Amino acid sequence: MEINKHYFDTIIIGSGLAGCRAAIECIENGTVGVLSKLYPTRSHSTAAQGGIGAALGNEEEDSPEWHTYDTVKGSDFLGDQDAIEIMCYDAIPTIIELEHMGVPFSRTVEGKIAQRRFGGHTRDFGKAPVRRACYSADRTGHAVLFALYEQCQLRGVRFFQEFQVIDIVIENQAIQGVIAINIKDGSIHVFEAKIVIIASGGYGKIFKVTSNAYASTGECLSMLFRQGLPLEDMEFFQFHPTGLYGLGILITEGARGEGGILINGKGERFMERYAPTIKDLAPRDMVSRAILSEIREGRGIDGQDYVYLDLRHVDKKILHERLPEITTFCKIYMGIDPSEAPIPVVPTAHYAMGGIPTDIDGRVLRDVDGSFVQGLFAAGECACVSVHGANRLGCNSLLDTVVFGRRAGKAASSILKSSTKGKVKKERLALIIECLEMLKNNKGKETVASIRKELQQAMMDKCSVFRTEEELKLLVDEIKTLKERYKEIEITDKSKTFNTDLLEAIELGHMLTLAEVIASSALQRTESRGAHYREDYPKRDDENWMKHTLAFQTEKGITFKYKPVKITRFKPEERKY
Ligand code: FUM
Repeated sequence: MEINKHYFDTIIIGSGLAGCRAAIECIENGTVGVLSKLYPTRSHSTAAQGGIGAALGNEEEDSPEWHTYDTVKGSDFLGDQDAIEIMCYDAIPTIIELEHMGVPFSRTVEGKIAQRRFGGHTRDFGKAPVRRACYSADRTGHAVLFALYEQCQLRGVRFFQEFQVIDIVIENQAIQGVIAINIKDGSIHVFEAKIVIIASGGYGKIFKVTSNAYASTGECLSMLFRQGLPLEDMEFFQFHPTGLYGLGILITEGARGEGGILINGKGERFMERYAPTIKDLAPRDMVSRAILSEIREGRGIDGQDYVYLDLRHVDKKILHERLPEITTFCKIYMGIDPSEAPIPVVPTAHYAMGGIPTDIDGRVLRDVDGSFVQGLFAAGECACVSVHGANRLGCNSLLDTVVFGRRAGKAASSILKSSTKGKVKKERLALIIECLEMLKNNKGKETVASIRKELQQAMMDKCSVFRTEEELKLLVDEIKTLKERYKEIEITDKSKTFNTDLLEAIELGHMLTLAEVIASSALQRTESRGAHYREDYPKRDDENWMKHTLAFQTEKGITFKYKPVKITRFKPEERKY
């Protein structure tokens, strides 16, 4: 088989915001190749709608200290406060930099960057909602990604689009490079590098109902885990309160930021009961639980399993100018004009708080002692710094990608000169090709589609907003059975060109690995915190669980270690809104 070899000083996996922002740093000091499963501007970052957080104070008084407090409290005190402070203080110059790079932010009448309310963002330590989310209508991720991609192009970053990574090569605790398939023709490519930055995004596709793109399958996390590296806080997966009913498509929190309210089957604005101060703008974990509690208690719309997001009272001009994307989604997918009819919504799997453990400069950690893999970095949703702890606040995700994408890029560049060139050994490549051929030629009675469907359903039923020990145990067993059945899959497409059958089979193997880590981590954590709500342990337990979970793959199966949360300024308190 012909092998295509490449060398770049830095290889970045993923062309979303974190990847592109890191690339802009790294290209200053050496060659950069960015690998993406997609055309770069189709990365899932473009699906981020409502905003990017920064205490600019353009619309009303605000401060990065309040932003820090809100993020710590939003995280249910599991976020590492040193990293949170960096993010919230860096937010202001970051937005100005993005503006200078060409992001077309929406404007106030005076021409400043416009800001709106978002869940959990308050003024004066929780007194009232504050306008902190900078936005570009409801296409903020799209606007930022196009600007960053253009900047990468201007600087000579090389993009390898529609390349699927199949191995991240680590030898002697140092990165060597990656192996990838060119999806267009099935050819195998080896990329050796001094530095690899993983910015591959999330893995919401593990769940049946999700706002995530088809590509969000998480294989890079699983590739590290299978090599003995830890994954952090995987039990914390965020459900966004307002997914379009039946589809999971995101209806931005910006809709509630612009005045939208949630109502139940009795016509009540039920969030007044759950979060009397900030109501519909409470953090996502609380709003998602509130919606599902209303439904469970029979107060869904007409007793069914959804509630309404009501925007009928919002000025049509605002819908037109600030929320055009979701207005169009409602018309296309539901046949509803939100200015005339309420939108049926239900929580949708949205964001992974857990991921590849890193320090504040994106270095990938090997263990709880702070040791790291030489030359390997991660940033964005795939990483766990951890700025989001047990629950991320809306509009802090785009911020995380650009702040920590840049930091990872800077830190990576600073070691470039002293780093040695990676080397992917022949034996490693041969093993990967052999595994690929085995998968392609496997004979069996199972299909990728049926196992994936069962996995997604099981995760949705037993590991979403509400969890119990009984269900999590059943889930772990179910995943183990699905892993056995996976060995019996048969791929019908034997061709080389756009063999999505084969690629989906690879993805599914990794999804099964990650699902087991999520369910097992959730089973261990016998408390409720942020997005991890155990009905059998409904209280937060700071005495025993104020710590991060690190899951490892060992010969005995998944094992766990824990590391302390970094608390600097804000002591844990009861989380009332
Ligand atoms: O609701 C939204 O627009 C989503 C934003 C986010 O996840 O930060």
